[in-house]
Amino acid sequence: MPTELPGDNLNMDKMPGHWVLAQMGKRVLRPGGLELTRHMLDALSIGPSDHVVEFAPGLGVTAKITLAAHPASYTAVERDKTAAAVVSSYLSGSHQRCVIGTAEETGLDDGCATVVYGEAMLTMQPLHHKRRILSEAARLLKPGGHYAIHEICLIPEDISTDVVESIEHDLAQSIRAGVRPLRKSEWNEVLESAGFAPKEEFTNDFQLLEPMRLVQDEGLRGAMRIAWNVLRHSAARKRVLSMRHAIRKHANHMQAIVLYAVKE
Ligand SMILES: C[S@@+](CC[C@H](N)C(=O)[O-])C[C@H]1O[C@@H](n2cnc3c(N)ncnc32)[C@H](O)[C@@H]1O
Repeated sequence: MPTELPGDNLNMDKMPGHWVLAQMGKRVLRPGGLELTRHMLDALSIGPSDHVVEFAPGLGVTAKITLAAHPASYTAVERDKTAAAVVSSYLSGSHQRCVIGTAEETGLDDGCATVVYGEAMLTMQPLHHKRRILSEAARLLKPGGHYAIHEICLIPEDISTDVVESIEHDLAQSIRAGVRPLRKSEWNEVLESAGFAPKEEFTNDFQLLEPMRLVQDEGLRGAMRIAWNVLRHSAARKRVLSMRHAIRKHANHMQAIVLYAVKE
C-alpha cells in the first residue's frame, strides 16, 4: 500500500471526517461497518461472470473482498486521487482498474456492468447529485443488473423537519462535509425513480466510532492503534470526539442501511 494517505496535505481542522479517521488508521469508513458490507455482498452474490463497478472505494476494504470472488472485471471510480492510488495498489491485470473520477459522470460505457455498488458516498451528496449518481449506476448496468448502496437512514419515517435539520447541521459541522441522510422511503423513492426495483434491505446501528464496532471492523490491534494515534494527536482527537458526540446525540434518529435493488 502506498505510504501517502488521503488528507495528508490538508489542515486537520478542515479535513473531511473520513480522512481524519483514515489518518488515524481507520480503514472501514461506512456507517454500518463490515457487518452491513457482508450483507450487501451476500445480496449481490458476485461471481466469476460478473463485471463489477464500485463507486467511491475509499481505502479499498470492500474492493479486496470483492476481488477475492474473482469477478470477470472490477472497475472502481474514486474522486480522491490518493485514495485511488491506494485502491490501485490492490489491483492487477487489465480487467482490474481504478479510475479517478466522479460517480455522477464515470465516463464508462453503457451496460458495462452486471453489479454496481457504493458505500458511504450518497449520503454526502445533495439530492440532485444523489439522483445523478443513481441514474449513472442505472446507465452502467445491464438490464437485470444488481445495485446496492450502504448509507445513513433517518428514523422514524415521521421524523420532524426540525430534527432532520439539526442532524444535518451537527453532522456537517463535525464532519466538515455535507451530510444529507434520507428516510428509508426516500431512499427507496430515489432508487425507483432511477429505474431500480428495491429487493432487500438490512439495517444496523450507526456506531462508526463506538469501541465494539471499531474492534469488529479494524480488529483488536487496529482498534488499539487507532486509539493510540487519537490519544497522541490533539487536533485529530478534537475532531474525532466531536464526530462521536454528534453521532451519539442523534443516535435515536439514525441507522445504517443497505438497500439492494435490481435494474428493471
Ligand atoms: C466516507 S468515504 C467511504 C469510503 C468507502 N466507500 C468506505 O465505505 O470505506 C467517502 C468516499 O467517497 C468518495 N467520493 C465522494 N464523492 C464522490 C463522487 N461523487 N464520486 C466518486 N467518489 C466520491 C471520497 O473520495 C471517499 O473515498
